[in-house]
Amino acid sequence: MPVNGERSRSASKVWGETVRSEHAQADRVRSDDPSADHWRSLAHRFKPMSRESAVQDESYIAVSRYVRESDVVIDVGAGAGRLAIPIAEHCNRVVAVEPSEAMQEQLRNQADAWGIDNIQVIESTWEEAEVEPADVIICAHVVYTVEDIAGFIRKLSRNARREVLIIVFEEPAMANYFELWRLIYGEDRISLPSLSQLEEVLAELGITYEKHPLDEWESRPFSDAEKAYEESLARLFITTSNENTELQAKLRAVLQDSLVPVEGGMRFRWARPHRPWLVRWTT
Ligand SMILES: C[S@@+](CC[C@H](N)C(=O)[O-])C[C@H]1O[C@@H](n2cnc3c(N)ncnc32)[C@H](O)[C@@H]1O
Repeated sequence: MPVNGERSRSASKVWGETVRSEHAQADRVRSDDPSADHWRSLAHRFKPMSRESAVQDESYIAVSRYVRESDVVIDVGAGAGRLAIPIAEHCNRVVAVEPSEAMQEQLRNQADAWGIDNIQVIESTWEEAEVEPADVIICAHVVYTVEDIAGFIRKLSRNARREVLIIVFEEPAMANYFELWRLIYGEDRISLPSLSQLEEVLAELGITYEKHPLDEWESRPFSDAEKAYEESLARLFITTSNENTELQAKLRAVLQDSLVPVEGGMRFRWARPHRPWLVRWTT
């Protein structure tokens, strides 16, 4: 029932407002160049490491179950090909829609290194992409920052001949950076939408879906303290130029007390694993 005579607010509208306020908070504190490719120092995280590890990736296993050999698959926000590349090995063709140049470069380099030539890269956001419908559309860890979520999802449904497969975290995707944000900026970071908000939007759009929990997931550790610094600069929108700015010095100092050694490198001492879910519907 509407409260106080007001109409209840639409889930898609609330989603858009949340994304805009999260972006506005970043714009308020940022000292980096907003036109630079935010993914430049992060793209390496989103490429498949090796054939062996790629096919053991639980997201890959969950998604590939729904992909047939003859299928054309669109990977929306394909990143550096973590899913697109191993999937391309087992289907007819993959169309990777990806706006970030840094991600496109890593995807192309990795596909070349694996000898894979059935991936077409569309250098665009999903909202602006001109695509032919495909059998299956996958979209992993992309929706969080999408402002017009209803339009984005309707376009997924319209362009999938059989399946839409979305992977989203249960918790806000950037939760492991919240403590660092607090230590650097002295305020709480606004949380982007995640699984429960996506479910509300799908219900509002009248989409009947099923969801499956995947194993809890730990992000790849930082290889060393310098890499942690570099990636934290990007995540906190701190400039990389004008070495020795106050914020850069503060970040270096805070990181000294924030990182712990783990197998393969370093992690934030407060880092927790996240649970991704597969959200799936047929069209
Ligand atoms: C967190 S990465 C995930 C990459 C990959 N799907 C994976 O799971 O490894 C998010 C990716 O979505 C892309 N992206 C962000 N907004 C997008 C949009 N509106 N349309 C298409 N891709 C988008 C980014 O450029 C980035 O490569």
